[in-house]
Amino acid sequence: MAKRGVKLDYAYCRDEIIGPRGVTSAQLKELAPAVEAVHLRINEQHAAGELGFMDLPGQDEVLDQVLEQAARMRSIADELVVLGIGGSALGTTAVDMALKGAMRHALPPGPDGMRVFVADNSDPRFFGAVLDQVDLERTAFCVISKSGSTAETMSQFLIVKELLERRLDKEEALRRLVFITDPQKGNLRLIAEDEPVAILNVPPNVGGRYSVLSPVGLLPLACAGHDVSALLAGAAAMAADCTSPDLMKNPAYLIAALNVSFYRQGRNILVMMPYATDLFGLAQWFAQLWAESLGKADSLSGEKVHVGQTPAAAVGATDQHSQLQLYMEGPEDKLVMFLTLDNYGRDLVIPELYPKIDALSYLGGRSLAELVHAESRATAAALASEGRPSYSLRLPAVSPETLGEVIYMLELATVMAGGLLDINPLDQPGVELSKQLSYGLMGRKGFEEQAERMKALDAGDEFLV
Ligand code: PA5
Repeated sequence: MAKRGVKLDYAYCRDEIIGPRGVTSAQLKELAPAVEAVHLRINEQHAAGELGFMDLPGQDEVLDQVLEQAARMRSIADELVVLGIGGSALGTTAVDMALKGAMRHALPPGPDGMRVFVADNSDPRFFGAVLDQVDLERTAFCVISKSGSTAETMSQFLIVKELLERRLDKEEALRRLVFITDPQKGNLRLIAEDEPVAILNVPPNVGGRYSVLSPVGLLPLACAGHDVSALLAGAAAMAADCTSPDLMKNPAYLIAALNVSFYRQGRNILVMMPYATDLFGLAQWFAQLWAESLGKADSLSGEKVHVGQTPAAAVGATDQHSQLQLYMEGPEDKLVMFLTLDNYGRDLVIPELYPKIDALSYLGGRSLAELVHAESRATAAALASEGRPSYSLRLPAVSPETLGEVIYMLELATVMAGGLLDINPLDQPGVELSKQLSYGLMGRKGFEEQAERMKALDAGDEFLV
């Protein structure tokens, strides 16, 4: 079984296959000069140190620090709770769920790695339930916040810190913590100056949603027992496959070009639909990457453009029985990215129990992997028959290597798509206002003006029932 070698199959995007609503070779050719121009800019930005995510696959020194810290965590605890949100959480969930499975929390912690819970919400029912799940005597906490000021994460940290200090002595409580934050600034850095908490860095030039291959993802994943060197090796191999300025020789650029081309034809929604429940976390990670990077009001020259393709996460075959009806017959505003697996790593044979019932007998003797393969092929073909485009990332199997490849490919595709849309894919100015208004509501010092503004903006209640 090939350990790596993710393939991009875009046949169902092409007009020769799906008809006039497909992309033509001429359209791709027309996009080529723009792709080359953005490629040059990416190289310049990278050389200027602005695209730190491109350097993450080759950071051996960081990997050593991560492995050392993970070994320490694993020696003192069986369970790890990650306190983080957005880019500080989604990558860990994506890879841990992919490798250990969607049912991972139902399994007891084993000798091969810690059970990792990602507590990425301030919802008290959820966070309370996570704390109820773990045995505090055998649990460590990884507090991840690049800024060190995110209210959700910091509130969770304060709750956990008090809990640990109540249950353990102060020194032991501090041993159970590790911070991952900016190397210079922020509140976690400030706290660690006075209290001896282990601390790892988020590189300043790596934004949250591009940070899964930094300590942000690597430490919890190493604690979970995953081969993070192989994850980085997969990313490095994909980086080597993505150096050409020619979109027909660079899979990340082809993905960006296809998406932007269809977006310009009105396909405002990009559905990522893995045919594997365990890859649903990856679809959610990608949704953040695509949405927060590309949904922007201003062009690079400051014009109001309000662009962005809305990502949606679905899972096959489950959503064939839920969303597919809309994809087949609803508005012509969607492009689907399938993720398929050549090898599921396990299979179940369907027994031949009712030979006289035609609707069941054809299944007997076949396997679930055969069925899910048939379903993914049939869904892509059915969409194509209606002139609806899709492309597939075909993974030989789920492994740290293939996940590293997919992650790097999609990060680079996102930056290229941002360049083609003429916006900055690295910032997120639109999420600031709601944060500041909630600081105002919660009475944070310095945010009195926002509290006042909130009074003016608050629509009040208008109940129907
Ligand atoms: O991608 C991003 O930049 C965001 O999703 C951040 O990761 C998220 O807001 C959390 O920020 P922080 O790591 O500063 O707590």
